[in-house]
Amino acid sequence: MKKFNKEIINGVTFVDGYLIVNKQYSLPKNYGNGLTEELQVAFFNMQNAALKDNVSLKIISGFRSYERQKEVYESYLKIDSKKSVDTYSAKPGHSEHQSGLAIDINKDDDSFIDTKEARWLDNNAYKYGFILRYPEGKSEITGYKYEPWHYRYVGKYLAKKLYNNGDWITIEEYFKI
Ligand code: DAL
Ligand code: ZN
Repeated sequence: MKKFNKEIINGVTFVDGYLIVNKQYSLPKNYGNGLTEELQVAFFNMQNAALKDNVSLKIISGFRSYERQKEVYESYLKIDSKKSVDTYSAKPGHSEHQSGLAIDINKDDDSFIDTKEARWLDNNAYKYGFILRYPEGKSEITGYKYEPWHYRYVGKYLAKKLYNNGDWITIEEYFKI
């Protein structure tokens, strides 16, 4: 069986060189300062390709600092139970948005499910290096509800593997973490 190489560099966990942030692995408070250059270029290419198919894509949430995530998480706690909030909002230090490698596209509520844009992303995002991070039916593994708008940049090689011909595999399953 293939062994993956896990390393922790300055408090950030990488597996085979891929940054990992989830409910188990966090980022240091001061980590992150915007969306990475690679993601921005990849998104630009994806956006242009989508337009040719009459699909309009827009980043509605990109980088979120630890402090910003704290505000977001705490604002949900004011209107919802912790148990429920923990199914859709990451605790500060645990959001992929702090990594600069994740984006929410077009809408971040359930009205995005099954839209033309959501379907286009589901079928094409991997070609540009993005993965659907919280697929439907994988809540037990990711810890989060289905989020058809949240895409994580991992590069084309891993994205194609995780796309798995349309049957998305999570980062957690792939790296056995
Ligand atoms: N909505 C995702 C899980 C986040 O808060 O990062
Ligand atoms: Zn998101």
